Amino acid sequence: MRGKSVLLIIGGGIAAYKSLALIRRIKERGATVRAILTAAGAEFVTPLSVASLSGEKVFQDLFSLTDEAEMGHIQLSRSADLVVVAPATADLMAKLANGLANDLASTALLATDKPVLMAPAMNVRMWNHAATQRNLATLKQDGVLFVGPNDGDMACGEFGPGRMAEPLEIAGTIENFFASNGGALSGLKALVTAGPTQEPLDPVRFIANRSSGKQGYAIADALARAGAETTLVSGPVEIVAPSGVKLLKVTTAREMLAACESALPADVAVCTAAVADWRPEIAANNKIKKEKGAATPVLRLVENPDILATLAGHARRPGLLIGFAAETENVVEQAVAKRLRKGCDWIVANDVSPATGIMGGDRNTVHVVTASGVEDWPELDKREVGARLAAKIAVALKGAA
Ligand SMILES: Cc1cc2nc3c(=O)[nH]c(=O)nc-3n(C[C@H](O)[C@H](O)[C@H](O)COP(=O)(O)O)c2cc1C
Repeated sequence: MRGKSVLLIIGGGIAAYKSLALIRRIKERGATVRAILTAAGAEFVTPLSVASLSGEKVFQDLFSLTDEAEMGHIQLSRSADLVVVAPATADLMAKLANGLANDLASTALLATDKPVLMAPAMNVRMWNHAATQRNLATLKQDGVLFVGPNDGDMACGEFGPGRMAEPLEIAGTIENFFASNGGALSGLKALVTAGPTQEPLDPVRFIANRSSGKQGYAIADALARAGAETTLVSGPVEIVAPSGVKLLKVTTAREMLAACESALPADVAVCTAAVADWRPEIAANNKIKKEKGAATPVLRLVENPDILATLAGHARRPGLLIGFAAETENVVEQAVAKRLRKGCDWIVANDVSPATGIMGGDRNTVHVVTASGVEDWPELDKREVGARLAAKIAVALKGAA
């Protein structure tokens, strides 16, 4: 973000206090911040705080003679590489969706020729209101980018969607925006699966595996950083989604397949998830009880859909389809066979024997099997594996890393 500039519009919501932290998060990433504070915004944070943190004059008034002489509102609206609205009030969203321009913030939003990123913040009923949802759809159609809102406790005491994304999340989204404009994978769509699946036996028990999701999340992060529009379909894991990535959370293999199909078409798909091969034939509606004297239940399994093979044979098959092979013996030979059996383009194989510490750990040693042979990569941090794989994908799809 070094050398980039952000025009931050601070609207009138409780979350305006978080925009002060956001200024710091943006600046520590090397970009400059100039701010417009709405009249309502100034009821929540002072122009002095904003000016002190940004190190720049704060703009508040459309009809200020001095501001207009120093920097006209049109010039101000175009002076930055990106316009960020945080908090984006219901009012600011409504104004931009309908082309209103009756103060400095809304005029700048209408006059700018730069991309706009909004971080909405409002009461859950305001957010869910048909009018706000209509405005959201219009703004998305007009190309406005969004981060959040998230679910959570709200200042008004209610719970639900409407809480502004945290400053770090917004800063991450801005970082990804700048990285992806000009990134090696910009303009491409990527799909990544990660984590285990859980296959229920009854409402409280399930069959799962030890996959942590770390490798898949690292790959999704690397692809997004390289500019790909990335969807991450994740089984149950305890990892925060990388910023700028669309997260679809699922539980079972069948849900994972449906989510993957909903994310097609994709230029590249990387299937790292450890999908359960089998599920219990019957998932009881109520907890299976241990009855005195009753026979021990027998667990009958049925096969789950094969996500990688389904994508390989799909009418909308991803242009480049990459599978992962987690093996505990004959790793490379099994991966070579798996590539042919599943009909995918590459297999990234790793040895997940307990002694390797790969499953759940932060490091990985992989072998990349393609039609032209096997590459043995050295032991790397999982993020580094993600970055290298993203670079290799860029070469395959665009001829450039
Ligand atoms: C205490 C208080 C908190 C508010 N919080 C929000 C909010 O979080 N989101 C929102 O859209 N409006 C909120 N409002 C209403 C806005 O301040 C009001 O719609 C205002 O006109 C927005 O102006 P602006 O969009 O120019 O900043 C709040 C109002 C008050 C009095």
